[in-house]
Amino acid sequence: MIIKKKINNEKHIIHLTNIRELEKHLFKEISNLDILIIDRSLISIRLLKKISKKFQDRTLVLMGNEKIKSLNNYENIIEKIIKMGIQRKSKIYSFGGGTIGDLSGFLASTLLRGIDHIMIPTSLLAMVDSSIGGKTGINSEYGKNLIGSFYLPKRVIICPEFINTLPKREVACGFAEVIKYSIIKPGSLNKILYNQEDIINFLSLIIENSIKTKLSYVSDFKEKSSLRSSRAVLNFGHTIGHAIENSNSYNSSIKHGEAIAIGIIIELKISQHLGYYKKSLDPIIKMIRNFGLPTDYSKYISKNNIKELINKMKFDKKVNDGNVSFICIDNKGGFVKDITFKNLETILLQII
Ligand SMILES: NC(=O)c1ccc[n+]([C@@H]2O[C@H](COP(=O)([O-])OP(=O)(O)OC[C@H]3O[C@@H](n4cnc5c(N)ncnc54)[C@H](O)[C@@H]3O)[C@@H](O)[C@H]2O)c1
Ligand SMILES: [Zn+2]
Repeated sequence: MIIKKKINNEKHIIHLTNIRELEKHLFKEISNLDILIIDRSLISIRLLKKISKKFQDRTLVLMGNEKIKSLNNYENIIEKIIKMGIQRKSKIYSFGGGTIGDLSGFLASTLLRGIDHIMIPTSLLAMVDSSIGGKTGINSEYGKNLIGSFYLPKRVIICPEFINTLPKREVACGFAEVIKYSIIKPGSLNKILYNQEDIINFLSLIIENSIKTKLSYVSDFKEKSSLRSSRAVLNFGHTIGHAIENSNSYNSSIKHGEAIAIGIIIELKISQHLGYYKKSLDPIIKMIRNFGLPTDYSKYISKNNIKELINKMKFDKKVNDGNVSFICIDNKGGFVKDITFKNLETILLQII
């Protein structure tokens, strides 16, 4: 199965396929000028063993985690790649989760002012979210993803089978983003997510629907003015989620997807409080819990730390002039609503 979509005159090409097809395809096109970047967690997978043999000393094996998205690491790796020898027609092939993808994309966008990047995302989060939309980047000492570029991979190749080796907690984190899509754009994803008995059989369909949902918001790089189609809608669950992650210093006690799960619940409660969301939250909370994501928010948000969380939000990129572009949900899905921090604090104090 292949999904193709054109973005901004450049082709945003996303293939949904399987490892066998990927293998056939890769061995046909790789050249001895190319570079391979892989996540260490994948090296025991047969294809990766085979392909790193082919790339030999043009292979970089990295431990996929947030620490690799640093300026120091970027400098170290880019110098290594330049030393290996590259030309404008060299390509970077990356296999890994979102951290490997973001770093490899930024390397590709800056090497010789841009070489081709073939991205093979291997975590669920990377398949449904970070590989789509062309954002690349690394972290600054002052915040996440502050150094980066918009640079579309030449191709994104998705093989859902890679998820077989992904730790359960990481799978759950990927589902937090899928659940987000199903709420901001209600449709076919909803039906599949509520029927969890054979969810794994539906993985390809879930990934495909998630990609289509994300693409509908990022189909060009300009910020759309419409409150429903703005890229900002993808931030649903993230205003509160990022503040929670930030106040836990981005440590692994709460992972991104877990913070987003809490963010989704609190932000739905806010939509309910404002009269937009008129249904009970119980089915969504139950579904989130069934995916192995946290739903008890009392550990992360309480009347005592609301002020601290609001202060963290003030540093979010979605903030302007004392307002936060908040994402509310009604029966049609997500839309942007500017809320002042003062109002947000008052609402949170009432609903928590
Ligand atoms: N560019 C974007 O638009 C965008 C969007 C969302 C998130 N992101 C970024 O994505 C990153 C998070 O991505 P992530 O959750 O994939 O994190 P990650 O890259 O740290 O991967 C999570 C863990 O899963 C392991 N892993 C990956 N694939 C595996 C597999 N198939 N089998 C076994 N283990 C595997 C990794 O080694 C790592 O330990 C963050 O840095 C975030 O900023 C970027
Ligand atoms: Zn996210």
